[in-house]
Amino acid sequence: MKKKILILAGGYSKERKVSQDTGNEVFNALKKKYNVRLLDPKGDLILQLKTFKPDIVFNALHGRFGEDGYIQSILEKEKIKYTHSGVLSSFLSIDKQLSKLIFSKNKIKIPKSFVFCFQNFFTKKKFINKVNKICSFPVVLKPINEGSSVGVFISNKKNVIRNLKKLSQYSKILVEQYIPGREIQSAILGNKKLGAIELIPKRKFYDYEAKYNKNAKTKHVMPAPLSKKNYDIVNTIALKAHKLLKCRGVSRSDFRFYKNKFYLLELNTQPGMTSLSLVPEIARYNNIDFLSLIEKLLKDASINK
Ligand SMILES: Nc1ncnc2c1ncn2[C@@H]1O[C@H](COP(=O)(O)OP(=O)(O)OP(=O)(O)O)[C@@H](O)[C@H]1O
Ligand SMILES: [Mg+2]
Repeated sequence: MKKKILILAGGYSKERKVSQDTGNEVFNALKKKYNVRLLDPKGDLILQLKTFKPDIVFNALHGRFGEDGYIQSILEKEKIKYTHSGVLSSFLSIDKQLSKLIFSKNKIKIPKSFVFCFQNFFTKKKFINKVNKICSFPVVLKPINEGSSVGVFISNKKNVIRNLKKLSQYSKILVEQYIPGREIQSAILGNKKLGAIELIPKRKFYDYEAKYNKNAKTKHVMPAPLSKKNYDIVNTIALKAHKLLKCRGVSRSDFRFYKNKFYLLELNTQPGMTSLSLVPEIARYNNIDFLSLIEKLLKDASINK
């Protein structure tokens, strides 16, 4: 009998559309070999799990609810094997404030930053002084737990308060030192280095359009054209971060490379698997086709992680 795979895609986060694309790609890859169903998890998720009784859940969700330990804890409680990282690892990785603390405590270089809480009283002058003291301008404002560059603003002194106000829906945000230089991302699969890719956006930075719109013409260079030593360094840092956060399956770490140093921006436990996504591209370079990549993740699925 064919194994029953339930793909969870869509969800409630701002990356819903990206997750649906990931889910569709995974569905098309698996449908011939497996008894596969695609589900947009809504209020009746537990009922759906009990009805379909999947052997494995493939988690194709991104962002809050799908990537932050929430869905993982439901699957743990229902004792259904699922792909990718577990509850704690997901919770720590999606939270840039917490994961940055862990990275810096373990001597991984990260941009300087501070957390700004909207409920605290502040004046324009006070905010600008703090930026000057800790990060200097230009500065990056970003939500603590979004993805796909949603809410990321590279700001100068003139527009920083305007951009700050655009983020007031979040209770707190990260204010981060802007690191010029190159955009390098490194993937880890099953505790092994998979490789690093360079992204060269035509837009001002690697924003949502540059990530998902083919017409934005972001150049992907695989493998990243670094010296052999630096190529190994970036993949070694990614593996260290993956292990520190006790990730499972696959992870993708995002770096800036400036003056011969790598700065880790974040680690993603649910990296995209759309046709423009980077992990499948890095895997392909290693002769791992899309179906084999998905099957490696299925093989690693478990509970109690
Ligand atoms: N400190 C920084 N210095 C320079 N560029 C930055 C910085 N922080 C973010 N960026 C730019 O914004 C992009 C998105 O930032 P980041 O990876 O932190 O956000 P994200 O929304 O979680 O991304 P993902 O889609 O990988 O989940 C980066 O890839 C980079 O191009
Ligand atoms: Mg990123």
